[in-house]
Amino acid sequence: MCGIIGGCSQRDVAPLLLAGLQHLEYRGYDSAGMAILNEGNLQRCRALGKVAKLGELLEQNPLQGAVGIAHTRWATHGEPSERNAHPHVSGTDIAVVHNGIIENHEILKMQLSQLGYEFNSETDTETVAHLLHRALGQGHSFLQAVQTVVGQLEGAFALVFLYKKMPDTLIAVRKGSPLVVGCGIGENFIASDTLALLPITQQFIHLEEGDVAEITRHETRLFDSELNPITRPICRAKADHASVTRGEYRHFMLKEIFEQPKSVLATVGDRVKDNRLNLDAFSPELLATLEKIKRIQIVACGTSYHAGLVARAWFEVEARVATQVDVASEWRYHDVLVEPDTLFIVISQSGETADALAALRLAKVRGYAVTLSICNVAESAIVRETDMHLLTFAGPEIGVASTKAFTTQLVALFLLMVLMGRQRFLSELQEEALITSLQHLPEQIDFILDRSAEIEALAKLLVHSQHALFLGRNIHYPIALEGALKLKELTYIHAEAYPAGELKHGPLALIDNNMPVIALVPQDNLVDKIKSNLQEVKARGGNLLILTHQANKESLERDGVVFVMPDTSPIVSPILYTIPLQLLAYYVAVLKGTDVDQPRNLAKSVTVE
Ligand code: M6R
Repeated sequence: MCGIIGGCSQRDVAPLLLAGLQHLEYRGYDSAGMAILNEGNLQRCRALGKVAKLGELLEQNPLQGAVGIAHTRWATHGEPSERNAHPHVSGTDIAVVHNGIIENHEILKMQLSQLGYEFNSETDTETVAHLLHRALGQGHSFLQAVQTVVGQLEGAFALVFLYKKMPDTLIAVRKGSPLVVGCGIGENFIASDTLALLPITQQFIHLEEGDVAEITRHETRLFDSELNPITRPICRAKADHASVTRGEYRHFMLKEIFEQPKSVLATVGDRVKDNRLNLDAFSPELLATLEKIKRIQIVACGTSYHAGLVARAWFEVEARVATQVDVASEWRYHDVLVEPDTLFIVISQSGETADALAALRLAKVRGYAVTLSICNVAESAIVRETDMHLLTFAGPEIGVASTKAFTTQLVALFLLMVLMGRQRFLSELQEEALITSLQHLPEQIDFILDRSAEIEALAKLLVHSQHALFLGRNIHYPIALEGALKLKELTYIHAEAYPAGELKHGPLALIDNNMPVIALVPQDNLVDKIKSNLQEVKARGGNLLILTHQANKESLERDGVVFVMPDTSPIVSPILYTIPLQLLAYYVAVLKGTDVDQPRNLAKSVTVE
């Protein structure tokens, strides 16, 4: 979604802000802009489209000055256009960039219009610029004026203000949308995401909810919402600049798919020892909680929701813990029945997804026993606000389509399953078998990656399709859902997933020789059932692309094109079956020439409801 970067320096900040915006591109956006103060003049440049377009405009008309703010906008109020792009201004004194939504902007706009303010955009943000103008006109200092403005706003947002009469200072506010201060040498920055600042600094202060930051090039002063001075720790970034570059890969997504053996290994880490769980690597609180709980409620969005669906099968079958899984945006508005001793798990790669965060906050109000996050970003709001967390170690994921974050979420959930199973009834031998199958994953993923050229060839079968159907059963049905999600977000091909046994209850009507059907046929207890389901497709002329094991190759080759998967235990095979589906979506997207890393209309981190 939108991205913010601002800086106070002694050098020209425009190139730094532009580079920062490039690092924020992965979040998804439709326009970009920048405002810089130079010798008492507020200069602004905005462009519809890519940051590169803004760069071209800046090359033609460079903005000079050591203090500035910049933004990538993902439209919420008003179409993507130059006049709706940030920064927004009030007169010639004030500029503001904004992430999030001002929910009461309509009434504020009406009041401001009555006072004579004119609006040049359709955004909620312009209201904020005028409110600051008004507060400053009432005699408040810059800091007090910002506080007055924030007091009038409803919604979740992050704001950074520039004010001509305080030319060395930026003021930033975090209320519902993340902001981080980057501490440089003789210069300080603010951004919505550490990745924007990694080329400049490794030292960060993560703002908490309600924090106000007054930033100059010499220092950053922090205040709470009442403007009492506060302190926050300075942390060193875990990621480095190299981890947010594409390296030799054509796209971030391809790099991230190929990083999965490493990220799976990192997420297993020291949590496993001598083929068993290493209990010392888990917090005593987590162990005690898992022992006590009787039920689990999982809430997540998108790909993370699919990880939750796999976990439900794992938790119920291997640990006998009743588990419910819901999409966060629906769960929030459903009057759920909260059973006693229910653990609430929120799964989120970014830890900032608005619906997931709101669901977590609601879970506390609804009285869940304990909250646990599975998350890839240690400093995120979701990690900070849950009672306990189990981190994934995927490293920064830049491609909008989630890949390594998903497989590492599955690894973390698998470990939870083994923990709960061990506490309940799993024998030592059963635990060893599960852990061993987990430990084989990196080499098995590598085995599939080494055959990516085969998938690249198969991608040709889908490139001209308008639609595609993914079939799976049982624990592989969520993987079929994930395969369909990857294909639609990357290639814009309409893709659906069905539990294969459900075909004859409706979707079979769609099957003809224009319908590619991607079927997941693992070697599990339902293998014969799904083979029968595939006959139903074959009989109607559907084109089958089948992922299966060597044992089924010969028989299934009569029905369609087969990709042979490495032999593995059915319990971990959902993780393995994910890999070819990621590659398939990727190669179809490359053939179609779509924007792989930043698919249209999508954002990496969905920080609005
Ligand atoms: O950061 P989160 O895991 O909370 O994000 C949830 C979804 O927005 C995300 O998984 C989305 O569905 C991805 N684009 C899928 O590839």
